[in-house]
Amino acid sequence: MVTAFALLSLSLLLAPAVTCLSFDSSRDTIKKPRADAQRFGGHSRGQSQRAKLHPQDLLIGRGNFFAINVASSVAGVSNGAAPEFELLPLQPREVALLASSSGAAVPLADALSRSLRERYPESNTGWAYYADTYTEDGWYRLEIRTDQDAPFPDVVKARAAGFVEGNLQAPHMYRFWSNYRKNQYAGRGEEPSKELLTFLDEQYAWMTKRVEAATGWSLAHLRGQLPLSIAGFGSSRRARAAANGDDGQAQDVEPGVHRWRPQDDDAGSSSDGGGSSTSAGGDWDRRYWSLVGLVAAQFEGLAAGFWASTPDPARNMTWHELYTLNAVGDLYELNVLFPPPNATAAAADAAHTVGAEQPQQEAPERHYTPGHGEVGEYGYGELLDCSAIIKVADFDPDLEGPADSAARSTVDDPTAVGARLLGRRGGAAGARRRGLLGVEAEQEEEEEEEEEEEELGAGVRHRRGRDFWAAHNTWRSYYDMVRTWKVYDFPWSVTGPVVVSSSPGLLHSKDDWYTTDNLVVMETTNGIYNKSLYDAIQPRSLLMWQRAQVANFGAAGGADWVDLFARHNSGTYNNQWMVLDVELLQRGHEREVLWVLEQLPGLTVSADASKVLLAQGYWASYNVPYFPEIYNLTAYPQPSIYHTCPRARIFKREQSRVASTSDLMALMRLNRYTEDPESLGLPNNAIAARYDLPARADPSGAPRNYTRRAYGAVDAKIVDLDSFSERRTYVINGPTDDDQPIFRWSTADAAVAGGVHHEGCVDEFNFGWQSYASVMGPIYRSGSKPEA
Ligand SMILES: *[C@@H]1O[C@H](CO)[C@@H](O)[C@H](O)[C@H]1NC(C)=O
Ligand SMILES: *[C@@H]1O[C@H](CO)[C@@H](O)[C@H](O)[C@H]1NC(C)=O
Ligand SMILES: *[C@@H]1O[C@H](CO)[C@@H](O)[C@H](O)[C@H]1NC(C)=O
Ligand SMILES: *[C@@H]1O[C@H](CO)[C@@H](O)[C@H](O)[C@H]1NC(C)=O
Ligand SMILES: *[C@@H]1O[C@H](CO)[C@@H](O)[C@H](O)[C@H]1NC(C)=O
Repeated sequence: MVTAFALLSLSLLLAPAVTCLSFDSSRDTIKKPRADAQRFGGHSRGQSQRAKLHPQDLLIGRGNFFAINVASSVAGVSNGAAPEFELLPLQPREVALLASSSGAAVPLADALSRSLRERYPESNTGWAYYADTYTEDGWYRLEIRTDQDAPFPDVVKARAAGFVEGNLQAPHMYRFWSNYRKNQYAGRGEEPSKELLTFLDEQYAWMTKRVEAATGWSLAHLRGQLPLSIAGFGSSRRARAAANGDDGQAQDVEPGVHRWRPQDDDAGSSSDGGGSSTSAGGDWDRRYWSLVGLVAAQFEGLAAGFWASTPDPARNMTWHELYTLNAVGDLYELNVLFPPPNATAAAADAAHTVGAEQPQQEAPERHYTPGHGEVGEYGYGELLDCSAIIKVADFDPDLEGPADSAARSTVDDPTAVGARLLGRRGGAAGARRRGLLGVEAEQEEEEEEEEEEEELGAGVRHRRGRDFWAAHNTWRSYYDMVRTWKVYDFPWSVTGPVVVSSSPGLLHSKDDWYTTDNLVVMETTNGIYNKSLYDAIQPRSLLMWQRAQVANFGAAGGADWVDLFARHNSGTYNNQWMVLDVELLQRGHEREVLWVLEQLPGLTVSADASKVLLAQGYWASYNVPYFPEIYNLTAYPQPSIYHTCPRARIFKREQSRVASTSDLMALMRLNRYTEDPESLGLPNNAIAARYDLPARADPSGAPRNYTRRAYGAVDAKIVDLDSFSERRTYVINGPTDDDQPIFRWSTADAAVAGGVHHEGCVDEFNFGWQSYASVMGPIYRSGSKPEA
């Protein structure tokens, strides 16, 4: 049985004649922008990184392609003895041939699918690309496409996608998880608690019952233990009424601000599924729960793929471990609610209570961790997560024609013909975009409307309404600096392939950072300093990672996204989410450009924040709630620090100097805590925190009570207008070294890195910025042809 890793000799050299200033043509590497003394308090007007090259070609020679075939004799059923899917390595020569013959007319992604469909008409369900490049440039690369045309139900395709990932990344998943549990649960048995697993069991059971009630897909179907009819589900019309209030109580207190509280049905033990959806009817419900079911099927496939390629029982993972790993963000709260017992204290207790009556089973004592439940010494939680910024620039004067303002007004109204539909048909093959929440039946009408709009806007179409950048860096423990860059191209994805900045074994980002053909989705985490909020967390809900992927695959725009995400809120991993609609932004719209959502246990608040973005010229996010209601409920300090905390001030000061992508690269890596007055002498008060560095003495010369930790901003991701349309992201892995020493495990202070498990991590984080394209190729908009 071929399950994986027929490691091919990669002698393939496509060697396209790429001449380009800032790229090393042998790899898609950008030389790191120099640490430039001008940058702080005066950004260098860095050279634009928008160089032309064929990054897709560079990728092809670096990784392996696999056909994903269904192997079992009865399609879509695993007989338990052999894996359900097989990965067949493709010859580099043949991929190269397809690549060279593809291009303008047929993108490689489609050419590959077509050729595999011909070769394995009965069994092929898609293909995958995998590059083992982590030690070279900081990330493993994984891209998975399952085909609309493949003769299998979507559940099988989702499971196939999961299987591939589990199969290709199993050893990395194991290490990622074992680092996590050994560090996170140190002194507490190095395992999650039984109560935590019970919570997750209840949650999964509730979720899969709801899926079954709405779609007919039982857990056995999702696991491939029972066949599904190919019909899967129909293509009936989407109930647009769902935008507001059919599955929860949305009360508009202020105009434009939406609040969601779970309906009684969510909190009850209902498993009938249909009960909560009234106005929109069962059809909408079925589509929603289909998306949830596909996330679950992908997860079941991940587990099967992992087991199929893990022969060593000592490096095996249980279903629970795999599921807990995926919930690693949700664990921020769940670890507080269900901490494993303190091994030392438990032993001491046992010694004391010998002979005494065993205490009744009590709710476990909560174990609050800094930054997620405690206000630290320096104002608010010490360990925070992530910095993000969206920057909008003025019209590019070179591109702005005289007709611009007139043209703009024709597309200004977000309800204008076609406005909300653009990009939905993007991706490698527009016609295949059906999308669970999209409408096949309406497709034709929409196409007509869209063509009409194109005519109206003739000449406007390629005008750039606005320039933009979106950027994010994620903060976490340094042992988590093993990364996988993923692209999921599934037929049910409404706005095209989802690009995910991720890690081994996670079916979501966790950073969080996603881009589709239309959207940029990202978040930073809010602290929960009001401990009573934890009481609202209960298992009859969907975990954050599941809701995020449901929204990423199912939403056509920001309003849809926040709607899908808010449903069945678990109250775990409580973030400020930003959903940027690039198409609308570009076209000069003033509404529906940016949606912002904040979540708490039992509540989400969201609003169209386009006005703020456009008026300020930027939106920054730095772990402080934006909505006053959320701010107050989470018990952040009063008066509000939203505008005054160090990163709010640094972003405000620096953003106006961002005029190029390299400026933004510098900003996202900025940490000059020893000189920057806004940093107050602390290495965490910076856009790119480095908690591992020592604090400066306070002004009186007294040492600070500051605990150094192997924790901080561990990456950055940036898209600009051009890179976005090329489905390309600038990325970097590792703590910032622009103005600070490079982080190395081997030379790090023992007080910081000693005893931290980091199996699988490279030693030195000195990767520099990379330009990551996708083998899926650039984004093809309707009406635009890919460049040859
Ligand atoms: C466990 O309890 C001991 C003694 O009460 C304490 O010193 C130690 O810090 C605790 N460990 C953890 C991980 O909480
Ligand atoms: C790994 O664990 C799974 C699930 O518990 C089990 O089915 C499988 O046999 C195990 N594999 C090995 C090699 O121990
Ligand atoms: C240092 O900070 C910790 C936690 O913030 C606190 O418990 C401790 O009392 C502080 N120590 C001093 C000397 O201020
Ligand atoms: C939040 O709290 C502040 C300070 O108590 C108060 O002035 C403000 O009105 C509150 N806002 C909301 C929305 O609760
Ligand atoms: C904390 O949360 C509870 C809801 O669980 C709320 O009733 C209370 O007002 C909040 N406390 C503060 C200080 O806002």
